Amino acid sequence: MKKITIAIDGFSSTGKSTLAKQLAKHLGYVYVDTGAMYRAVTFYAMQNGYVSEEHLNKEALINDLPNINLQFQFNDNLGFAEMYVNGKNVEKEIRTLDVSRCVSQVAEISEVRSKLVASQQEMGKNKAIVMDGRDIGTVVFPEAELKIFMNSSAQTRAERRFNELIEKGQHVTYEEVLQNVQERDYIDTHREDSPLVKADDAIEIDNSAMSKQEQFDLVMDLVGERV
Ligand code: C5P
Repeated sequence: MKKITIAIDGFSSTGKSTLAKQLAKHLGYVYVDTGAMYRAVTFYAMQNGYVSEEHLNKEALINDLPNINLQFQFNDNLGFAEMYVNGKNVEKEIRTLDVSRCVSQVAEISEVRSKLVASQQEMGKNKAIVMDGRDIGTVVFPEAELKIFMNSSAQTRAERRFNELIEKGQHVTYEEVLQNVQERDYIDTHREDSPLVKADDAIEIDNSAMSKQEQFDLVMDLVGERV
């Protein structure tokens, strides 16, 4: 069977990673969560005092970029790859609301984007990959055979993210999660470098009223037409 590249983009908390993981598992493809990479750089930058909610020392972060080594390592028990920065597992740390509050400022920096995009293109050079993010169909793999653009109402998305964080034992309110989702969407769609936008040839899925199974079946039909 022909191997293809599947690019999944969309607003935050639209269920991109859930769908992407399911597809990758079913097809025997590699799954790459590019949001985890931006989150990992942000976590490193927070720990080194380059960024907080109130400030960003862009120059210091750019100078230190060559020292940030990102790696995915597959965890058999969890069934997905975890994120490592300079050899340290940061999978848990990068999912906090604190990181979510700073990540879009870091993702606006072109030097950060070029570094991560180059490594994403390298990971996908042999196809058989499902990658999710904001610029996969537009910048990382403009030639991807299948591009999906996911959307759902801000409330549905905030509820989804809120439940995830509560399940992980984090102390957050629904209101602050909703505010973060809306703020990130605003920054991600308005930035100069690689803004979040639907690629012309992407297929849009609004999953506000769709089950996970319905989304999976729909996308598998589209895969079937391309392999
Ligand atoms: O996907 P996730 O919500 O974890 O992404 C976190 C943030 O990383 C996004 O809000 C966005 O600012 C940034 N991002 C990006 N480009 C990508 C993936 C994520 O700018 N391809």
